[in-house]
Amino acid sequence: MKTIMKSSFVMLVAAMLSTAAASAAEPVSKLPPASTRTDVTFEKDILPIFKESCIRCHGAERPKAGLRLDSAETTLKGGKNGKVVVVGDSAKSDLVIAVARIDPELAMPPIRQGRGGNRPGNPEGAPNSEGQQRPQQGPPPAKPLTPEQVGLIRAWIDHGAK
Ligand code: HEC
Repeated sequence: MKTIMKSSFVMLVAAMLSTAAASAAEPVSKLPPASTRTDVTFEKDILPIFKESCIRCHGAERPKAGLRLDSAETTLKGGKNGKVVVVGDSAKSDLVIAVARIDPELAMPPIRQGRGGNRPGNPEGAPNSEGQQRPQQGPPPAKPLTPEQVGLIRAWIDHGAK
């Protein structure tokens, strides 16, 4: 009995390790699939997504990383670090890697938000233990994109980013 338990523990650990290795290996394969729609346009499909989750930091006013996402032209132009869209190849586009949030280094909206000045301590003597109960301040965090929304952005890029 003892041996059986021990060996199944070893197998469990081995299984866990191999899953971890597999998931670190190929980030691009973790991208949600592109939508099968071929009629995706920036104005109609993409801009509403950006307005909801991105424009507060990537609008006309002091855009983060110099990247404006309020028009197709500015999105294709990229930011101060260069282009974020490879027209025709969504899997190589930083913008897609960012919104799929498969790489914590470049996850958009950022995984930790609050640099916009919405964390000036806690006003009402709320629990100070980095707690869950801290009262919400400022705007709620920008919403991460759903796999469907990421798929729409991929389709837009794959079909020429019109
Ligand atoms: C809370 C503010 C905030 C929101 C919301 C946000 N971003 Fe960002 N974004 C940043 C900051 C800040 C950077 C600069 C890199 C960094 O410091 O993480 C950045 C950088 C980027 C970059 C890399 C630009 C480059 O050239 O290096 C891309 C692409 C990007 N954002 C896309 C998006 C998209 C798409 C959305 C919406 C889904 C979004 N961001 C929402 C703050 C934000």
